[in-house]
Amino acid sequence: MAKISVWSDNRFWQRSAAWITGFAAVLLIWLTFDTAGQIAMGTDADLQAGVTKRVPGPTVINYKITYEMSTKRGHEVPVIGEKEMFFGRDDYSEEEAGALLHLGKLGSQTKNCMNCHTLLGNGAYYAPDLTKAWLDPAWQDGGTMQAMTGKSTKEEAMAEFLQHPSTYPTHSRMMPDLGITPEEAKGLVAFLKHMSSIDTNGFPRNFGRMQGAVNGK
Ligand code: HEC
Repeated sequence: MAKISVWSDNRFWQRSAAWITGFAAVLLIWLTFDTAGQIAMGTDADLQAGVTKRVPGPTVINYKITYEMSTKRGHEVPVIGEKEMFFGRDDYSEEEAGALLHLGKLGSQTKNCMNCHTLLGNGAYYAPDLTKAWLDPAWQDGGTMQAMTGKSTKEEAMAEFLQHPSTYPTHSRMMPDLGITPEEAKGLVAFLKHMSSIDTNGFPRNFGRMQGAVNGK
């Protein structure tokens, strides 16, 4: 009987397929649990203890968020700093902050921000990426948007812009008025602030270049 080469032996290919499928299944299950752990939302206790989570708890709105270059990781990462006033308060409870974020998330869905903007990688690029919009220097103290809207804080300036975007004409495309109420605007700003605190591995990559998307500043 002629000896069959291993490459033309059916059993060899069947066993290889079974082993590879088994290995891939185990790897996927492991990755699923690893990812679930990495993206689980942190708590207020984490924030108070200074524990860094990829997705901080809702009460991150009580803190100042900055975006700093990490030489180790080769991109910028959100850094949660001191307490900071947000619409006059820095003591939102987990429930209150959670409710605000929820309102903002529902608002972003009903008004379909993604139709023009990108949030965490989903959406369009007709308008600036909103993932890190809260960190756009245009909104900061001394930035153009506070002066333009006549507000003295970042959150009030952003809320005012969201309610009447077409009142603040810019150099390029204009955001249309979407009938956003003051309460919805507050929720949306909380939602944007929280989103900016999420460690997205430096996404969007070109944030540094598109900083000051509003008014080109
Ligand atoms: C029809 C398209 C459209 C929709 C829908 C839309 N926007 Fe905009 N938005 C724009 C455009 C265009 C700009 C850029 C305006 C400019 O350059 O001044 C903008 C700018 C912004 C900015 C400033 C961005 C920055 O980098 O500072 C924020 C914040 C913002 N939009 C939030 C929202 C939110 C929240 C929603 C949903 C509730 C929304 N937008 C829905 C078109 C849109």
